[in-house]
Amino acid sequence: MNTLAERVFNKFGELFGTSPALIVRSPGRVNIIGEHLDYNDGFVLPAAIDKAIYVSVSKSADTNIHLYSVDFKEAYEVAVSDIKPTSSWSTYILGVADQLIKGGYPIGGFNLVLDGDIPIGAGLSSSAAVECATVFALNELFELGIDRMEMVRIAQRAEHAFSGVMCGIMDMFASMFGKKNHVIQLDCRNLAYEYKPFVLDGYKIVLLNTNVKHSLSSSAYNERRQQCEQGVAWVKEQHPTVNALRDVTMDMLDKYVEPKDAVVYNRCKYVVEEIQRLLNGCSDLENGDIAGLGNKMYATHEGLSKLYEVSCKEADFLVDAVKSNPAVLGARMMGGGFGGCTINIVKEEAINEMVEILASKYKTATGLELSVYISNIENGTEIIKVG
Ligand code: GLA
Repeated sequence: MNTLAERVFNKFGELFGTSPALIVRSPGRVNIIGEHLDYNDGFVLPAAIDKAIYVSVSKSADTNIHLYSVDFKEAYEVAVSDIKPTSSWSTYILGVADQLIKGGYPIGGFNLVLDGDIPIGAGLSSSAAVECATVFALNELFELGIDRMEMVRIAQRAEHAFSGVMCGIMDMFASMFGKKNHVIQLDCRNLAYEYKPFVLDGYKIVLLNTNVKHSLSSSAYNERRQQCEQGVAWVKEQHPTVNALRDVTMDMLDKYVEPKDAVVYNRCKYVVEEIQRLLNGCSDLENGDIAGLGNKMYATHEGLSKLYEVSCKEADFLVDAVKSNPAVLGARMMGGGFGGCTINIVKEEAINEMVEILASKYKTATGLELSVYISNIENGTEIIKVG
């Protein structure tokens, strides 16, 4: 067992006086390219990383749910029959329990201890990891027989219902289906997916945390989603077979969206361009052309910042600061936006120097600390052997 698994194991014993029935690990994720495409029926290219959520669980002796977060040093208890959203970490666990009950799955009371090392609010999908760990653990515990794909959907519905963020499927999918040293090319229209070896000879994925807390539920995310739907509705008036931005061309946008609304046009333009960029980026990856892929990451950042307007000055600063560094093949803001991390592909031997210079520049420019995570690609949700 590693340290975090030991921690949820030991804490469980301390709180509940027994060993947990099982421990589940569910990772955070990165996304190489294809941002804000999942809810537009597009493609994404995520991977699970070596930062994860751990839960230890067992059935409880009563019909209550007993939760404890090691990070927050906080307990929460509620009857299974009385689950409601909360405004804290517990809402992600309760959201999953609620979806299971709504889906007719017979769950009873349970004890659960939560810990992990995914930084919160960094755009690495800690909430999706909590949801995936919970659904996986409860599926085992109550022998519900749910497959991974359905667990992903349950986790996504939990996020919609209990957090109010109308997120796409990427985060949960990556956490649940991750594979060591591979990225997942996922078609969010039909959920067909393919693992692609992610071979970065001498390069590493470096995440630079702006330490600006993003707030997806601050409505900007849902607003972007609605703007995309508005664009589709305008095109659909002329082309009834169009159902998502995946089906839309630039020509259609120029004709039917641009005259109606400049902002909606920009949002849709970013998405239509990004879908093509992702496909080209996947070809680069297949051809071993990481530099080509890296250039597309810079272009994605430009689109997210100028057209989709989900970046922030801190993330823009970090991307601009590495652009002329020959050791950095590509960089862009990652995830929902408004803070969180930038993802960078950096030559291994140049990482230390880059980070040293950048951290002090960043502090001077923004007054904020820069946190750095060198990420490896790991397996998705799994049971960790106890003892
Ligand atoms: C958040 C959402 C995802 C996805 C990304 C942007 O992480 O949860 O579904 O839309 O933003 O790509």
